[in-house]
Amino acid sequence: MSKIKYAIIGFGGIAENRLAKEGFASDSSRFQPLENAELAGVTDINPARKDAVKSLGLKWYDSAEDIFKDANIDAVVVATNNLTHADICKRAMLVGKHVIVEKPMATTIENAEELVKVSKKSGISLAVDHMMTNNSYNTKAAEMVANGTLGTVNDSCFHMEFCYGATPEEAATWRCSSIAEMGGPIRDVGSHCMYLAEYIFNSKIESLACVYLPKSLNIKVEDGAYIKFKMSNGMAGSAKMAFS
Ligand SMILES: NC(=O)c1ccc[n+]([C@@H]2O[C@H](COP(=O)([O-])OP(=O)(O)OC[C@H]3O[C@@H](n4cnc5c(N)ncnc54)[C@H](O)[C@@H]3O)[C@@H](O)[C@H]2O)c1
Repeated sequence: MSKIKYAIIGFGGIAENRLAKEGFASDSSRFQPLENAELAGVTDINPARKDAVKSLGLKWYDSAEDIFKDANIDAVVVATNNLTHADICKRAMLVGKHVIVEKPMATTIENAEELVKVSKKSGISLAVDHMMTNNSYNTKAAEMVANGTLGTVNDSCFHMEFCYGATPEEAATWRCSSIAEMGGPIRDVGSHCMYLAEYIFNSKIESLACVYLPKSLNIKVEDGAYIKFKMSNGMAGSAKMAFS
């Protein structure tokens, strides 16, 4: 079977480290080549990212359009900032490239629904990188809930926190400066807690309440929050997320 040839659009932190080096095994000092997939190239609107791409021995494309035109590429991974996801994903599918997009799929429900429509109509696959549901501890937890090992789970606790936004450089990024970009810990990392809860409990979050953490960072978004939620199957949980 020939390998599926991927290209990455957007080569920031997640793309370089988690996608290229680890996911696609471009760091050959740590990983063996993948059996079924190959990272064939990368683009970023910031030409300064070229060196990082070249240092991994990967092909640099000058634009996403160049990737879309390349018949050698079967699929793209979209790892740009959130506001650009919907447009790039749609354009990729319209030229026949399968898509994996970093979360969130889009920044509005309307845009997300439109992407699903384009995918269904074209038969091109569209996947969102909800990678927490592939973590072996999480799949085990879901299994233990499903087979009754844990009994009825009346409460649960999810955490996702990392220090970000303390420097002016970090505070200026989309992650700390724009709610429209879905920056801020609730949207950036709280999202992992919420879809993971729905996955582990095999149920939908039905209601929730949120309290913000006290403000200590000089960023335009919230520093963090506690969210208490109830699932439609009666299970419940809380999540804490923070940049502070
Ligand atoms: N699954 C996860 O755990 C996880 C973790 C971190 C980030 N993410 C997601 O990955 C995405 C990227 O996050 P990041 O931390 O790497 O951000 P980042 O700001 O470091 O990187 C984004 C990159 O995209 C480039 N870019 C922007 N618009 C572009 C365009 N039109 N064409 C080509 N390149 C473009 C930027 O120049 C930048 O290099 C976000 O959607 C984020 O939510 C997911």
